[in-house]
Amino acid sequence: MRVLRFLLNNILIEESGLPPDMTVLDYLRERKRLTGSKEGCASGDCGACTVVVVSLKNGQLQYASINSCIALMGDLQGRQLITVEHLADDGKLHCSQQAMVDHHGSQCGFCTPGFVMSIFALTKNTVSIDSQHKRKSIEHYLGGNLCRCTGYRPIIDAASTALDWALAGNTDQFSENRAATIQQLQALEAEVDTTGFHRPTTLDALFQCKAQYPDAPVVAGCTDFSLEITQRLKQYPQVISLSGINELGFIEQRNGQWCIGAGCSIAALLSTLGPLNADIADMLYRYGSTQVRNSATVGGNIGNASPVGDLPPLFIALQADVVLRSAAAERVIKLESFFQDYKKTVLQADEIISEIRFDSSALDCEHSVLKIYKISKRIDDDISSVCAVFYCPNTTVKPMVLTAAFGGMAAIPKRALELERVVSASPENMQLIGDALDKDFQPISDARASAGYRITVAKNLYRKFLLELKDTQAAHRLHHLEIDHA
Ligand SMILES: Cc1cc2nc3c(=O)[nH]c(=O)nc-3n(C[C@H](O)[C@H](O)[C@H](O)COP(=O)(O)OP(=O)(O)OC[C@H]3O[C@@H](n4cnc5c(N)ncnc54)[C@H](O)[C@@H]3O)c2cc1C
Ligand code: FES
Ligand code: FES
Repeated sequence: MRVLRFLLNNILIEESGLPPDMTVLDYLRERKRLTGSKEGCASGDCGACTVVVVSLKNGQLQYASINSCIALMGDLQGRQLITVEHLADDGKLHCSQQAMVDHHGSQCGFCTPGFVMSIFALTKNTVSIDSQHKRKSIEHYLGGNLCRCTGYRPIIDAASTALDWALAGNTDQFSENRAATIQQLQALEAEVDTTGFHRPTTLDALFQCKAQYPDAPVVAGCTDFSLEITQRLKQYPQVISLSGINELGFIEQRNGQWCIGAGCSIAALLSTLGPLNADIADMLYRYGSTQVRNSATVGGNIGNASPVGDLPPLFIALQADVVLRSAAAERVIKLESFFQDYKKTVLQADEIISEIRFDSSALDCEHSVLKIYKISKRIDDDISSVCAVFYCPNTTVKPMVLTAAFGGMAAIPKRALELERVVSASPENMQLIGDALDKDFQPISDARASAGYRITVAKNLYRKFLLELKDTQAAHRLHHLEIDHA
């Protein structure tokens, strides 16, 4: 048995008897009595529990804010955990705390530790921040934190002050202890196998583990899975985590294709594909929050087979392949045939999703157009009511060839085959287009949207796509119209 070993601030912690389904927040509050991190929603939605996890990557420290209420303890293996209690140095508040005081960014204070940790993470990631778009970066970092009394302006001002402080090259105790922390983390192994939490570091070890514990759930970022624990109060005696398997964490171009490992986080997907396509960037910036994107994975978004997951419509429209792997074999199928029925897929019990692939030309061909429309009740940190993706590989070819896929319109993410057929003959006949979408989809009403709303939105999104296709400035103008209405 391998003991769970991680750094709590700079103290080495070794644990061997924790329940495998224990969340980081419960551990902090109940076992360590570190009650600065708050429990608001216990479902990743409010950010009150935000902590920062530091990982060693290519010899560098990577600081990521996560929601501790939906993170499992076993995934801290080999990492450093920093909470709001660790920011002040020798009695002096960290800049991310002092700025909140100076700008009156707190009233009841319940949300404050979470905001402070998100601001702290912002100050630790200045390399990725475009100083021309400081305000946007701040919004992205704070989008997963809710405040119900102060109002956001003073908090944004505080974040701006802290960011300026970091951009000016100021350092804190974490920067000063960098070399020591790297040394401490290098001494910790990535694998853990302790009282039911199994974190193999290779695919071979994973398949052995799956054979040994066939009933254990396989988890990756845990952003979906943890809700079974915190909302449905289920208990799991065994859990197998994919998060230690580097073989699944890649994103690269190979043989004319983008190849994305199932373990690639949404944050990594955003930083690699975002600069190549504005629609992908816009959609991924609206995928959960920074905390969710730092944990959630591509494989988890496909594996959970939600009808409203944001990546499946994108990858289906790009006609992506999904690679399914078991100990003995590998099979490659079209993603659109992976989903069978509500939460039902073709994945066999001994398989995992290992990779997604699609043609690179989709993102680098001068004549191709990819449009992604995510419709949700809130801009930030919300699941789609409808997500529509339209992909035209070459706009100069007549008749138009289009692939279209929708989320939120059926029990599974689904291609709109009738729409595609009609578009090739009559792309501008809205009556025929509407009829085609009626044939493709009979959506349901639920808490997010009514059936009528969904089908109307789907038709309108095609109309919007058409306008933007004809006039490249239209997207810009329509965007501003939406903002005026908001
Ligand atoms: C606050 C919040 C906001 C969210 N916002 C969005 C959003 O905007 N858009 C969106 O699409 N989703 C959203 N989600 C849902 C969730 O974050 C995503 O579905 C995420 O990608 C799941 O990935 P994960 O690694 O966390 O999966 P996990 O929770 O670890 O696993 C989810 C499921 O997938 C399976 N699985 C994981 N990896 C694999 C694999 N490699 N092979 C086979 N099965 C696998 C697991 O067995 C499990 O059944 C949100 C969730 C939260 C909590
Ligand atoms: S308690 Fe709300 S996000 Fe964790
Ligand atoms: S200060 Fe009360 S919720 Fe933010």
